[in-house]
Amino acid sequence: MRDYLSALGREGEVRLVKREVDPRHELAAVIQASQEESEAALLFERVRGSSLPVAANLYGSRRRLCRIIGADDGNFCRRWVELTAALDDVAATQPGNAGPLVSGRISELPQITYYERDAGPYFTSAVFLAREPESGVANLSFHRAQVMSDQELRVRLGPSHDLAKYQAQAEARGEALEAAMLIGAPPEVFLAAAASLPINADEMQAAAAIAGSPIAVRPCNTVDLEVPVASEIVIEGRILPGLCRPEGPFGEFMGYYVPVGDNAVFEVSQVSWREGATFQALLCSSADDYRLLETAIAARIYRHLTETAKLPGIVDVSCQPTLLNTVVQIDKQSHDHPREVLLAAFDAHPDYSKMCVVVDRDVDPYNMSQAMWAYLTRGRADTRAFIIEDVPGFYRDDNRDHWGRLAIDATKPWGREAEFERTRIPGVERVRLSDYLSG
Ligand SMILES: Cc1cc2nc3c(=O)[nH]c(=O)nc-3n(C[C@H](O)[C@H](O)[C@H](O)COP(=O)(O)O)c2cc1C
Repeated sequence: MRDYLSALGREGEVRLVKREVDPRHELAAVIQASQEESEAALLFERVRGSSLPVAANLYGSRRRLCRIIGADDGNFCRRWVELTAALDDVAATQPGNAGPLVSGRISELPQITYYERDAGPYFTSAVFLAREPESGVANLSFHRAQVMSDQELRVRLGPSHDLAKYQAQAEARGEALEAAMLIGAPPEVFLAAAASLPINADEMQAAAAIAGSPIAVRPCNTVDLEVPVASEIVIEGRILPGLCRPEGPFGEFMGYYVPVGDNAVFEVSQVSWREGATFQALLCSSADDYRLLETAIAARIYRHLTETAKLPGIVDVSCQPTLLNTVVQIDKQSHDHPREVLLAAFDAHPDYSKMCVVVDRDVDPYNMSQAMWAYLTRGRADTRAFIIEDVPGFYRDDNRDHWGRLAIDATKPWGREAEFERTRIPGVERVRLSDYLSG
């Protein structure tokens, strides 16, 4: 993260906050206010109660995410699928040197409380690194962690995620699951953590594929794991078997509070950071959370449409602006093509894809207003939309709030494309308003 933050600074993409901020709500309030007008990252130099500066909104920009993975044409999905296609051939790690490390305590790290009704300070940007208990395959994933004391964190392990499965396997053997939490992980590790690869895929290989070289690692001191040397802060510990304790409430990605629930207990065995370390904050349900999850989910749907369903004409997939919607951009192949795409898209990611819109290549899939304009101007409202009733949705959905699917074909009628040529003014792209406007 250090090199990435420096590079952003050189490019003028970091806003510096020099005055001291309170980690209880004030820091989050500044992040939110800044995100409302800018995609820039933030660097808080002085955060009350900790000697570590705090970086925020590092990944709240699709343009930056595309740059990290080398998607020069802006098509994140296609590049991501290319990068993760042949992971078997990728060397995941190589020995590295972290330089001098400082040993510390959880309470010395910035204790950031984000939303009004959050139970207290949380670590929201930590990448959990763990190994599958039998195969040893490495997994990377995000899990919010409520700070309880220097020794204990409470961690949300969504049951569909690999870490929860690893923990269940370890628990079945009566063992704790060793894990390392990386705060301020290098960007390639951060992006690999957002990806949902098959459970037997080594996600450190995915990180190495993004980086274009093996990830430099060092052994942990108290657990049998190797962590990227470029991680700013490493919290080593174990998820205890047969034990759950109350965690929450917490303002999470959909923009609501999740109530108190019994979640996993992480026993801290060591905290260390690189000299001059910067902590990473992440405001849930903000651009920093959304851009990352959107690209990860969209790439998974893109892979399903192109590789599993083997559908032709798939150009790009977006999950902007809500995560719960999908927009698929296509080169339409036949009258029935959009319907095939819609049905396949719902198959790809049952957790999130609650509404899917299919648009033509001349419609920006990252702009829902354009997608709706296309739906409403390119044909009938009734025959181009359909509802699939009673499809189960989001796993933690006791009230079935996320059941059902809405499908919308917003493409031009097949064979009548010429009638829908979009108006355009020659030369508009060359206009510099400053050459025309006075005052
Ligand atoms: C910022 C952020 C926070 C997240 N927090 C949680 C969480 O608290 N619990 C959880 O189960 N998943 C959380 N997720 C989702 C998973 O970490 C993510 O989907 C990951 O890809 C799962 O990896 P896996 O498929 O390898 O298990 C979060 C994702 C992001 C980007």
